[in-house]
Amino acid sequence: MHPIKIDFSGALEGAIGKESGITPSELEAVLNKARDIKIDFPFLKLPQDKKTVADIQKTAESVRCKFHNMVVLGIGGSALGLRSLAQALLPPYFNLLDSKSRIGLPKLFVCDNIDPDYFGAMLKIIDWRETCVNVISKSGKTTETMAQFYIIRDILNKKFGVRGWKDHVIITTDATSGPLRAIAQQEGIQSFSVPQDVGGRFSVLSSVGLLPAACVGIDINGLLVGAADMVERCKTSSIEENPAVMNGSIHYLMDVAKKKPISIMMSYSDSLSFFSDWYAQLWAESLGKNGLGPTPIKATGVTDQHSQLQLYMEGPNNKILTILGVEKFKTQVPIPTNVSKEFSYLAGRDLGEVIHAEQTSTVKALQQVGRPVIGVTLPEMSARSMGELLMMYQIQTAVTGKLYGINPFDQPGVELGKKLTRELLSKSSA
Ligand code: PA5
Repeated sequence: MHPIKIDFSGALEGAIGKESGITPSELEAVLNKARDIKIDFPFLKLPQDKKTVADIQKTAESVRCKFHNMVVLGIGGSALGLRSLAQALLPPYFNLLDSKSRIGLPKLFVCDNIDPDYFGAMLKIIDWRETCVNVISKSGKTTETMAQFYIIRDILNKKFGVRGWKDHVIITTDATSGPLRAIAQQEGIQSFSVPQDVGGRFSVLSSVGLLPAACVGIDINGLLVGAADMVERCKTSSIEENPAVMNGSIHYLMDVAKKKPISIMMSYSDSLSFFSDWYAQLWAESLGKNGLGPTPIKATGVTDQHSQLQLYMEGPNNKILTILGVEKFKTQVPIPTNVSKEFSYLAGRDLGEVIHAEQTSTVKALQQVGRPVIGVTLPEMSARSMGELLMMYQIQTAVTGKLYGINPFDQPGVELGKKLTRELLSKSSA
């Protein structure tokens, strides 16, 4: 299978003109700056952690034998990576399939919000006898995740007793610190560790994403092979061939030199729609600092051609679009030939052909009106391609942070809100 392809030409002067397109001298200047950035970020080592992967596979096998549901509690970086893996790599409508069609794999419920209507409904539909709960929090002190955990612990405790409830829980948290680690130790609950130097939004390829993914049957080995390939590609290619450095440099230039601070990720595949959410978090939380940073926006092709595209074509020219697509869909859905004359262009076509035609036309249309577009194409929706894609964007984000001169790995801006929530709840409960 061939690697994912990235086409930068639609962001360059040659395709869209000098005003919006990047000129060779602008590109050369930023690449000279990028040349000094060492590609040695902590998350690069994750695909090599064979010991953790073996532990995960062993636990996942036992979860698959014992349980029919996997409930994951986590938020932000502790949930979005898994959500994007599940959307990309599980069959569509997975939870609605019967056990035979799911080949006995557990259903997956990712709870990354605390809306009582939805969380409360989930509590009611789950049969807890058949359920494994994976509580994921690197810090082990995130209010939302801990609130969810205490609610479910109470349910499990009432149903299975002071010892039995623990058989239904796996904790993923920091190896040594934080309240959740203390709970795992005190209660003797099975646990996994998040590497200390890997932050939440860069942790999808650690036990944070891999354990629940493996429990529902996702090919985590394929994922890691793809990720390792991308690490190799980014470490050994010339800078002009390095997809992460090139993409980061172009996005950086679009913001600082071309007045295009908005970055749209438009995926022409429903399987990649949660990848866009993952990207939005990675890009926003890593780069939005010191008054700097681009604004990520999610869009879905073709749906948003009938919603947002008008703005992208004729609104302010302050955006760069990434059109994310898949070369080959898994399913063929042909349109019958007996259609009226007006729709004869559809007769006998497969829906895959139609979506590809719409994708190509959107790219052309955007370029014709001088809007920068980058194409990212997966050969097919596979674990390996997803591994490449996730790793490329993580490296790209880290490199772009360095170009902005900010620390892409912290998130001081979200701390204030967390502190105020704790204060508010402490006061009102006193
Ligand atoms: O990327 C990040 O660091 C954050 O989005 C965290 O993942 C999020 O706040 C959840 O944190 P924790 O895993 O500590 O519960």
